Formats: sequence, structure tokens, C-alpha cells
Amino acid sequence: MLKKIDRRQALKTGLAISSLGLAAGHVQGSGLNAKLRTAHIGVGGMGGADLGSIASHSQVEVAALVDVDANTLKAVSQKHPNAETFADYREMLSQLGDKVDAVVISTPDHTHAPAAMSALNLNKPVYCQKPLTHEVFEARKLREVAEQKNLVTQMGIQVHSSAPYRRAVEMIQSGVIGKVSEVHAWSNKNWGYDGGSFTQRPGGPPAQLDWDLWLGVTAERPYCDNVYHPGSWRKMIDFGTGTLGDMGVHIFDTPYAALKLTAPKWAKTTCRNPTGIGHPEKNIVEYEFPGTAYTTDSMTWKWYDGSYAPPKELELPQALKLPGQGSLFIGENGQMLLPHVGEAQLFPQQQFKDYQRPDIGNNNHYHQWVDACLGNGKTSADFGYAGPLTEALLLGVVANRFPGKTLNWDAENLKVTNLDEANKLIKRDYRKGFEVSGL
Ligand SMILES: NC(=O)c1ccc[n+]([C@@H]2O[C@H](COP(=O)([O-])OP(=O)(O)OC[C@H]3O[C@@H](n4cnc5c(N)ncnc54)[C@H](O)[C@@H]3O)[C@@H](O)[C@H]2O)c1
Repeated sequence: MLKKIDRRQALKTGLAISSLGLAAGHVQGSGLNAKLRTAHIGVGGMGGADLGSIASHSQVEVAALVDVDANTLKAVSQKHPNAETFADYREMLSQLGDKVDAVVISTPDHTHAPAAMSALNLNKPVYCQKPLTHEVFEARKLREVAEQKNLVTQMGIQVHSSAPYRRAVEMIQSGVIGKVSEVHAWSNKNWGYDGGSFTQRPGGPPAQLDWDLWLGVTAERPYCDNVYHPGSWRKMIDFGTGTLGDMGVHIFDTPYAALKLTAPKWAKTTCRNPTGIGHPEKNIVEYEFPGTAYTTDSMTWKWYDGSYAPPKELELPQALKLPGQGSLFIGENGQMLLPHVGEAQLFPQQQFKDYQRPDIGNNNHYHQWVDACLGNGKTSADFGYAGPLTEALLLGVVANRFPGKTLNWDAENLKVTNLDEANKLIKRDYRKGFEVSGL
């Protein structure tokens, strides 16, 4: 009994363990309590990689696998024969209860919040893929509940823990280029779709796919081949968040962390008019953020994607070619280019030729979460960090629906103050039968 209490406490935070007077790592090697029993929701695509990385921790026991695609579930379960399998994560959570300690979510974006909140409601620590949620409101609620319950969380932005990104944060915060006034960031990927409607698949969804569960909280519609499952959903407004949500969350992470940014004052996009179907295939999104200790009085962030990237308007002094994805920090005393993913470069090169980079190594983003669940250390992209970062990005995704209009943002009240129509896109109503307490 005592051990069970210890393990539950460990799943909260290291703080909880020390408040019990137990050393961090107490659970190690104590029979049943030595293992973190994980449930994985969405095990195809990135979910397969997430599962492999988490299962590679010696103290993880994979307890449950959930996928709405029976073929994927069958294939993955062959590698984890002891794990129980489910199509519906709600059934998994209610049937397994205390047999699962922590939950990993790697579904399409629209299912992140309902699955994560369902797990948090049961006091389970959560590792959730990026972007944290599909809607601004959901990001706020996940952060609030995770913080109120003091649960260990991590968003799946694994490059956040890589040495080049960690070094870049340290470099900016050391003041190497002075206070930053602008960041330009870009991805030449195109997770948008400018076309029209689709033809329904004759005979309905493929037999192996539970289409109703795949749709989850979103409105019902017919299944179409090569539009939603797998992967293509990220281009569609009801399911994904376009290139800004998909890649922007990785590329904006370092500026957001390094400059300790908070909520934007406003966002404005340049893109085609909305179609009601797909995200725009190319966007420019501008934001202004309040100043921080690492910026000038205010800071602008400008995002470019699709064929707008890399931005034509930026030229490095040495006429170097910009990478296909990355960010450029403009400081008072120089510039820093951070490719996605690679080492930061400082400009003008002559000025920084003797610069010694900070000696910082890689962290394992996945094992960091497992360790924190077991009471050892903390995560670096918990929902307290990931929530506001996601909210900021998603405001830009909302702005894509009102091209050319500046959306003034009251973050405290989650409200666009000058365009009421935009407020309808901050929170969606969940489909009947898929409601989740707390959302
Ligand atoms: N961190 C990264 O580098 C990275 C890279 C790629 C994808 N991702 C993220 O991973 C997530 C998945 O992306 P993907 O490209 O693998 O998508 P995908 O469509 O290829 O895979 C999603 C998987 O989830 C399953 N699924 C869908 N709905 C489900 C539900 N309700 N319950 C259980 N399983 C469900 C699907 O059957 C499929 O196996 C997204 O949030 C994406 O942004 C992150």
C-alpha cells in the first residue's frame, strides 16, 4: 500500500516526492513500482516513433496501445505482445484505470485536447504531440488543469531538448547579439490545401478504420481517400493547424523560450481568402509581443510558409543562402540564424569569429518525461510552457481566416477585441457523445 502511494506521488512531481521526505528515484528497483506503465494513443506515424523512444527507457512497461486503425494496431501490438489493445481511448482509460500510470498522445491534432484532458482528469501524467491542441481555448484549459493538479506533462517538441536549440537559447540569453527587436521564422513546407471539396469514397470508410472514432469531437462527414487519414488531415482546417501549427511550433519554440515571450498583442496574416476546407498553402503571419528582459520594448515575429519561404526580403550580409526552414533573430548588436535543425550562426561573421559557444549537450526529451514521472527531475516543455506557446501560434491560425485584418488579442480573457467573428474560432463545440469534462 505504501509503495502504491509512493508511486502515485512520484507521478505528480519531484516536489511531491520531496514533500514526502523521499529521495527522488525512490521508486527505482522496488518491484512493481519500478516501472512506469504507459498507454499510447495513436501508434501509427509519429506515434510509432514516440512509442519506440519512450519504450527505450529501461523503466517503461508499455501497458496499452490504442489506435482507430485496426491494421496499425495489429502491426504495432506484435512488437508489444503484453500490451492491451483498444480502438477507443475512452474505453482504455475506463477499463484499465490504475493499471496505467501515464499516457502518450500521438493522434491527429483535433484529438490532442480531448484525449489529454481525459487523461489529466484521471490524474495521469501526459506526453502530448505538438501542437498541444487544435483550439486556443483547449490549450488554456490543458495548462490550467495540469498546473492545478501538478501533473508531469511534456509537449512533443523533441528538438527543444537538442544541443543546438538549447545552445541557441543560452546564446540569446547571454546577450551575444544584444536585445532582440525582430524574429523572422519560416518553413518551406506546405501543409495547406487551396482546392475545393472531395469525392466521397464509394462504399464508405475502409473496413480497418473506425471513422467515427477518428472524427471524434469534430462534426460528422463522409470519408474520402487521401484527404484525412493518415497524415493529410494536417492540411484541413477542422483537423490540423496548417504549416504554422505543424512546423511553426518547432521553429518558434527557440525564440519563444529564449526571449521568454508571453502572449502576443495582435496577429495579422497575408494569405488567400478562406475556403472553409483547407489551410492556405502559403502564409505570412505577423505578431507583436510585449517586451521582455531579452527584447527591445516590443518585439515583432514574422512567419513565412509554403512558397513565401525562405523570405525573399531577408538577406544575410554575406549573401549566404537561407535554409529551407529556420529563424533569424535581429539583435541590437548582431544577428543569429538558427536553421531547423542545426547550429546557430552569428552575423556579422567577422565580429563573432572568436565567439565560444556554450558547452551544452543533448537531453532526451522523451526520457526526461519518463524520469519526471518517476520523480527524477523536471520536463522542459510542460503544459505551462507549451500552452502559451500553442495559444500564440493558434492565434495566427485563426488570423488566417481573416486575411489582412489585425486581430487584437486580450489573452487574459481569450478574446479578440476588435473582430467578434474571430472569437467563434477560439473554441469549438464538441460533437454529441464526445464531450469531455473540463473542455
Ligand atoms: N514532433 C514531431 O517531430 C512530429 C512529427 C510528425 C508528427 N507529429 C505530430 O504527431 C501527431 C500525429 O501525426 P502523424 O503524422 O503521425 O499522423 P498520422 O495520421 O500519420 O498518424 C496518426 C495515428 O493516430 C491514429 N489515430 C487517429 N485518431 C485516433 C484516435 N481518436 N484514437 C487513437 N488513434 C487515433 C491513426 O490511426 C494513426 O495511426 C500530430 O499531432 C503531429 O503534429 C510530430
